[in-house]
Amino acid sequence: MCGIVGYVGGQQAAPLLLEGLGRLEHRGYDSAGIAVLSTSKGLKVAKKAGRVRDLEAEMPKRFSGKIGIGHTRWATHGPANDVNAHPHVDAAGEVAVVHNGIIDNAAALRAELTGAGVELVSDTDTEVIAHLVARSTADTLEGRVSEALGRIEGTYGLAVLHAGFPDRIVVARNGSPLIIGVGDKEMHVASDLAALVRYTTTVVHLGDGEMATLTAGGYTTYREDLVATDRAAKKLDIDPASYDAGDHDSFMHKEMLEQPEAVERVLRGRLDERFGTSHLGGLNMDARDLRAVRRVKILGCGSAYYVGQMGAQLIEELARVPADAEAASEFRYRNPIVEPDTLYVAVSQSGETVDTLLAVQEIHRKGGRCIGLVNVVGSAIARECDGGIYLHAGPEVAVASTKALTTMYVGFALLALQLGRVRDLSIADGKRLVAGLQRLSGDLEKVLALEDELVDVAKRLSQAESMFFVGRVRGYPVAREGAQKLKEVTYRHAEAYQTSELKHGPLALIDKTVPTVAIVPEDELADRNVGALHEIAARGGPLVVITHPNVDLGDVADRVLRIDVPRNEVELDPILLTVPLQLLAYHAALHLERDIDKPRNLAKSVTVE
Ligand code: AGP
Repeated sequence: MCGIVGYVGGQQAAPLLLEGLGRLEHRGYDSAGIAVLSTSKGLKVAKKAGRVRDLEAEMPKRFSGKIGIGHTRWATHGPANDVNAHPHVDAAGEVAVVHNGIIDNAAALRAELTGAGVELVSDTDTEVIAHLVARSTADTLEGRVSEALGRIEGTYGLAVLHAGFPDRIVVARNGSPLIIGVGDKEMHVASDLAALVRYTTTVVHLGDGEMATLTAGGYTTYREDLVATDRAAKKLDIDPASYDAGDHDSFMHKEMLEQPEAVERVLRGRLDERFGTSHLGGLNMDARDLRAVRRVKILGCGSAYYVGQMGAQLIEELARVPADAEAASEFRYRNPIVEPDTLYVAVSQSGETVDTLLAVQEIHRKGGRCIGLVNVVGSAIARECDGGIYLHAGPEVAVASTKALTTMYVGFALLALQLGRVRDLSIADGKRLVAGLQRLSGDLEKVLALEDELVDVAKRLSQAESMFFVGRVRGYPVAREGAQKLKEVTYRHAEAYQTSELKHGPLALIDKTVPTVAIVPEDELADRNVGALHEIAARGGPLVVITHPNVDLGDVADRVLRIDVPRNEVELDPILLTVPLQLLAYHAALHLERDIDKPRNLAKSVTVE
């Protein structure tokens, strides 16, 4: 989605803003722009449809100023063109605004401004903010922005420059992330840490309904009614190098290979070998609270939802508590019944996915308890939840989520262990699972080592316009995630089905041009799975099977990829079987020369509905 950067300090702003926008490219965008301000030359704006490098190529030579704001836009109101790109300015060219989010009452405000004689030049909702700020007569820029915000309904993360107040940037947040970076006699702002960490790791996360003023000398925070909030800065424990792809051709590749260490991090200090359970202090729930849970409802979007389905199965198996997962984007629209003895679990890498955030707010509105499985510390969902498990996957930059999903699965395993151990899960089974989780990182290492073996299959799959991913019970969410990953990075059509459902419809599509990737774990369903594969083979459908070493497939498959690691616990199959599917998607995309980290039309975190 859209990205924001801003800078005020002693250096020239334009190169810093362009570099920052480059760091936000993974969020997904279709145009970019910057505005800088200097006391002698006033406000200057450059913006362009296309990539940041297109903007950079066309930047005017003289574009000086030590204060500025920048933006990458992902079109919502009006097409991706130069005019609709941000920053937007008022008629006099004195105010510049960059904005993430959606102004719900933009149409009414546009009509009102037009009626008052203001000429609107773009199709965007954002432009109204620039005009509203310009028309305010408050004494300070803070007052003018606050007045403008009073007229706006919707979501925003925004930054405002004004030629009449050349020492400051005023920013505001409501439902769209905004982080202030505190430097040495300079201040930064961005919608994503990725754009800040090279300059500073001392940050302030603004809350919803909060504003801030940045000057070279520091920052102040306050509410939209200008009452001070005095939000303190925090030093983050992150390595800026983790935001670089290093020797890898893409972040997706780097992040897939980081999965073993990510698993170690999410487990660190959380396993209790003696009692076969987990320590999860952040849940803010004691044994009695956990015992009172009658049902678990997991909410997430996209791949987080699919891992949620895996998590629900784990919880049912280990804790024998009814559990299910639902797409967070649908949840609040069906007036959901929120029960006091249901534990709601929001799962999100970014912690900023608006659909998931709004689902959590709906749960809270109805008096429910919601915990979070979230990667980004201090993110909106993490803050909204009543407790939770941080995933510690490290920064995930590629749009296609890999390592964060693996840590989500482990997070669910930890939760299932604890819910199970306060019920009927025996200490022996708890210890079995704890030992399995301790082996998981090493097993993932071995699965990742299958990469070379997968390349040929991936190339072959990449040539198919359409394909199926199938699995049963534990294997079904794995198939869904495999299809999702392939779609995202190759743009090929891939549909996931329960293997058992094939003959109820989709088998009609099978022929030699439609391959099927089948997930066949070594479990109680293996024979039934193999039976269904014969039905595909009999119709000429090419078959790729992901399975364990001891499953007897006869000669049904065209290609078999065996996860040749010592058998871990059956409950951990889903995550070990997901990793080969990530590798398949990645190598298919590589063969097709896709822009793997920045798939078309997609964004890393979806912060608008
Ligand atoms: C994953 O590969 C996708 N890019 C996408 O489905 C993602 O999982 C979804 O948008 C949820 O994001 P979140 O985990 O940041 O909430």
